[in-house]
Amino acid sequence: MVRSLLTAGVDTTVHGLAAVLYAFAGHPDQWRALRERPQSARIAFDEAVRWQSPVQTFFPTATTEVRIAGTVIPEGGKILMFLGAANRAPARWTDPDRFDLSRDLSGHVGFGMGLHQCVGQHVARLEAEALLTALARRVDRIELAGTARRHPNNTLRAWHSVPVRVHPVG
Ligand code: HEM
Repeated sequence: MVRSLLTAGVDTTVHGLAAVLYAFAGHPDQWRALRERPQSARIAFDEAVRWQSPVQTFFPTATTEVRIAGTVIPEGGKILMFLGAANRAPARWTDPDRFDLSRDLSGHVGFGMGLHQCVGQHVARLEAEALLTALARRVDRIELAGTARRHPNNTLRAWHSVPVRVHPVG
């Protein structure tokens, strides 16, 4: 139990927190919006999770035959779900490539969906809320201090580094 919480809960959250800082560094208007409404911190994190999708894919097994959009998946069949693509599907999202705190985030699948959706998502949101509300009190501006570099990985949309400079209030 502890092992599954640690393996599923560390890298995902590290890259999710990096994603939200990267998002704000590139969208100063959204940082101003968060500073005006720090209670939106969890929404901001969810929007970053939708926009960057730290977990890009998941590979569940069908426990019974199922038909999806006209395709029959047999019992025991593997399904590769592209969460990152679903989170930017134009059929669901207006201007999907934009990081936007004002959007309705219902139905994003950054934490999966259904019975096995992420069991630790509230812990991740709590961590993000603590970080973002503390920064919102103290930081006027966040900007990139260099080139953000990816860490290539088949499942995670991971970062090697996201150098940011913060400008304190006052
Ligand atoms: C930004 C942070 C996180 C992201 C993006 C994320 C994403 C995901 C996704 C996409 C799934 C698969 C859901 C599905 O099959 O439909 C999942 C499952 C899971 N996550 Fe997370 N997760 C995060 C943080 C955490 C944390 C902090 C913990 C633990 C404290 C955790 C523990 C788990 C576990 C145990 C599962 C398996 C649940 C099951 O199969 O019933 N995750 N997560």
